[in-house]
Amino acid sequence: MKLTPAQLQEFEEQGYIFLPEVFSQEEVDLLRREAETIYRSPRQEVWREKNGSPRTAFAAHTYNEAFRILGAHPRLIEPVEQFFGEKLYMHQYKINAKSAFDGEVWQWHQDYGTWARDDGMPEPRAMNISVFIDEVMPINGPLMLIPRSHTHGTLAAGHDRSTTSYPLWTLDNDTVARLVEEGGIVAPTGKPGSVLMFHGNLVHGSAGNITPYPRKIVYLTLCTVSNHIRKPTRPEWIAHTDFTPIATVADDALLRYAQAHRIAAE
Ligand code: SIN
Ligand code: MN
Repeated sequence: MKLTPAQLQEFEEQGYIFLPEVFSQEEVDLLRREAETIYRSPRQEVWREKNGSPRTAFAAHTYNEAFRILGAHPRLIEPVEQFFGEKLYMHQYKINAKSAFDGEVWQWHQDYGTWARDDGMPEPRAMNISVFIDEVMPINGPLMLIPRSHTHGTLAAGHDRSTTSYPLWTLDNDTVARLVEEGGIVAPTGKPGSVLMFHGNLVHGSAGNITPYPRKIVYLTLCTVSNHIRKPTRPEWIAHTDFTPIATVADDALLRYAQAHRIAAE
């Protein structure tokens, strides 16, 4: 899947692009079932909120076939490859749960701030492309973005290890207020299967989820191969050190797997 020149320009200017319903209901239904199974497993890659409900599952592309296919899907890999003009490898892979009633906050941050400080990534030549696994609504903790904040480079940040179970390099309130005065805040919402691609320096965060509606989103963090990390400090399943360029699967690979899986389950 390729972006149009107008979409590329919008991405450059705003720092994100939202693409509604890129994956079909059948494709996403499979991913949702698989994510729920992963969250129930005792794997070390499943990180939990302080109360034990799932927060995120790392590296599912390495142990789950449906998420392996998604991690090489042309509808996700091609737009990012097109933007950077270079082959990509998988730096990080997360299925964030934002569980019904229990999903906790993600404080305001820039992703590249963590990739640079914790993983030794040389340049912000990496970004997230995400797929909504559940419907993302204004009420269930949507991802909030500050448009155009990516133009400010990498901002000063403090290492917050206490607010949630997930250590994060977070921005202070004055910085966030200044950026919001300029760019406002948007919270893209939409049906399962929608895609959100955002710049590594775009400031974002999300509030807790006190509704009965879970808000699962899967994030592929794709890094250009030449920009591979130099000084990993986190486990391999959080910040990968396999820099093999991603070879895409066929566009119908996930659908075929969903159909085969459904027949096998019947
Ligand atoms: C993130 O910023 O890595 C995740 C935020 C979210 O899923 O709400
Ligand atoms: Mn982030």
